[in-house]
Amino acid sequence: MDVEGKEATEYLSYDDVLLLPGYADFLPGETDVSTEILPCVRLNVPILSAAMDTVTEQEMAIAIALQGGVGVIHRNMSVEQQAAQVAAVKRYLNWVIENPLTVEKEQSVREVWQLMSERGVSGLPVVEGDRLCGIITSRDLRFCTDYDRPVSTIMTPEPIVERGTPTIESAQDKFNEHKIEKLPVVGENGRLTGLITVKDIEKHQQFPDAATDGHGRLIVGAAVSPNDIDERLEMLVANRVDFAVIDTAHGHTKSVVEAVGRIKRKFDLPVMAGNVATRDGAKALIDAGADSIKIGVGPGSICTTRVVAGIGVPQFTAVVWAAEQAAKAGVPVIADGGIKYSGDIVKAIAAGASAVMVGNLFAGLRESPGSEVIYEGRIFKTYRGMGSIGAIQKGGGDRYQMNADDEPVPEGVEGRVPYRGELKPFLHQLVMGLRKGMGYTGCRSISALRVYRNFIKISAAGLREGHVHDVSITQEPPNYSR
Ligand code: IMP
Repeated sequence: MDVEGKEATEYLSYDDVLLLPGYADFLPGETDVSTEILPCVRLNVPILSAAMDTVTEQEMAIAIALQGGVGVIHRNMSVEQQAAQVAAVKRYLNWVIENPLTVEKEQSVREVWQLMSERGVSGLPVVEGDRLCGIITSRDLRFCTDYDRPVSTIMTPEPIVERGTPTIESAQDKFNEHKIEKLPVVGENGRLTGLITVKDIEKHQQFPDAATDGHGRLIVGAAVSPNDIDERLEMLVANRVDFAVIDTAHGHTKSVVEAVGRIKRKFDLPVMAGNVATRDGAKALIDAGADSIKIGVGPGSICTTRVVAGIGVPQFTAVVWAAEQAAKAGVPVIADGGIKYSGDIVKAIAAGASAVMVGNLFAGLRESPGSEVIYEGRIFKTYRGMGSIGAIQKGGGDRYQMNADDEPVPEGVEGRVPYRGELKPFLHQLVMGLRKGMGYTGCRSISALRVYRNFIKISAAGLREGHVHDVSITQEPPNYSR
C-alpha cells in the first residue's frame, strides 16, 4: 500500500485513513455500484449480510437480495432448518416456475382444494400426463358445491398460454390483455414446461435491482463448516443454494484448505472461503481453489479474538494485503467486519475489496432474527458474536476450533444494538454514502474505486475533526450516530 508515496510500515484500520478527493465529471447518482463477488454471482449492491444467528436468516436474506445485495444464512441450526431457509429465499421470487405444482384432470375438486390450501397457491395447471389441458383457480372453486366431481368439469379448458421461451414483456402483455393471474408455458405437443404468475412479474418490477439468478430467483449463500460439508451441502445444493461460505475464524488452516478442495471436487458450486488476514492466508485459499476469499481476523464489533488470542491484523491493512494477493489470480475479496459507517465501505472497496460483509449495522434491523427489547425507554435488538458463550452453546463452537463438549472459551460477546427500522431505507443510506465516496474520488464504478488507492493516513486529531465535534446533536441523521 502506498501512503503519501511511501510503502507503509504501519498496520492500519479504517479510522486511520481517508481517501483524497479527486476530479469527477459525473454526479454520485450516476455511479455503478454493481460488483462480482464470485464467478457468475453479480450483485447490484456490494454488501453481504453476515452469517450470524442475530443477523441473517431467511427474512434478512430475502430483504437484502430484493435490494441488490445478498445474505449468507448462518449455520447455527440443523441442516434441515438451514436448507428450508435457503428454499424459502429461492421460492420468494420467480420468473418462470420450472416445475409448477399441477393436478391431474381426474382428481376431485376436494383434493385440489386441499392441495391449494396446504401449499398456499391460488391456481394450478391441470394436466393429462405431461400435457396441459386446463387451469383451475380459486375463483373456479368458489362457485362449486359438488366437491366429488373431477376438476376437469370446472376448470378453464384451453387457457391462455406462453409458448417456447417467453419474455417478461410478452407475459406482461398477456396478463394485461386477458386480466389473468397465472400463465402456463407450454412446449412441443402442448407439454407443460413452466408457469408464470402475475405476482412474480410485479415483484420483479417492484425490485429492479434485486440480486437474481438466471431463473429470476433471489440469490442466497449459506455458511458451512469444514466438518459438515458433505451432509450440509448435499441438502443445500438440493435446495438451490447459490454459493457456499466456509465460515471459520481461522481460514489459513489445513482443514479449510482441504474443505475448499473437497467442495470443488464434489459439488458444482462457487465457494467463498475464510477468514484470513495475510497475503499467505489469501494465497493458501486461492491455491486450494476458492472462488472468493473473506478477510477479517478480529475487526468485528462483537469480537474479542485479538484480546483473547493476541493475534489479528487491523482491517484496512488486511484488506490491502489480501486484495493485492488475490488480484494476481483475479479472485474477489470480501472485507468482513468492522464497518461502522458508510464511509468504511468506500475505504474497504478502495483498499481492493469487491464487497463488504456487515453484521452490527444490520443486527438492529426489523428483518434480523430475534426480537426487539426495550431498555430504558429505547428499543434495541440483540446482537451476539458467533464465538460468544450463547452462540457456542447453540452449536457454533467449531467456527472457533472448539468441540461441542469443550468448556467454552469465547471470542465474542453478547450485546444489543439500537433498533434501526427496515432494511430498505437503511441500506439506501449506506449505498448513497458509497456513491458519494465514488463521486468525491471520481470513480464511476466499483472496479475503478478498487484501484483508486489514493489514501492518506490521518492522526487522532484528524479523526476527531472528521466526526461531529463541539456541538450537541439535537436531531440524529439516519446515517450517523456516535
Ligand atoms: P461487524 O459487522 O463489525 O459486527 O462484524 C461482523 C463479523 O464479525 C462477522 O461477519 C464475522 O466474520 C465476525 N464475527 C462474528 N462473530 C464473531 C465472534 O464471536 N468473534 C469474532 N468475530 C466474529
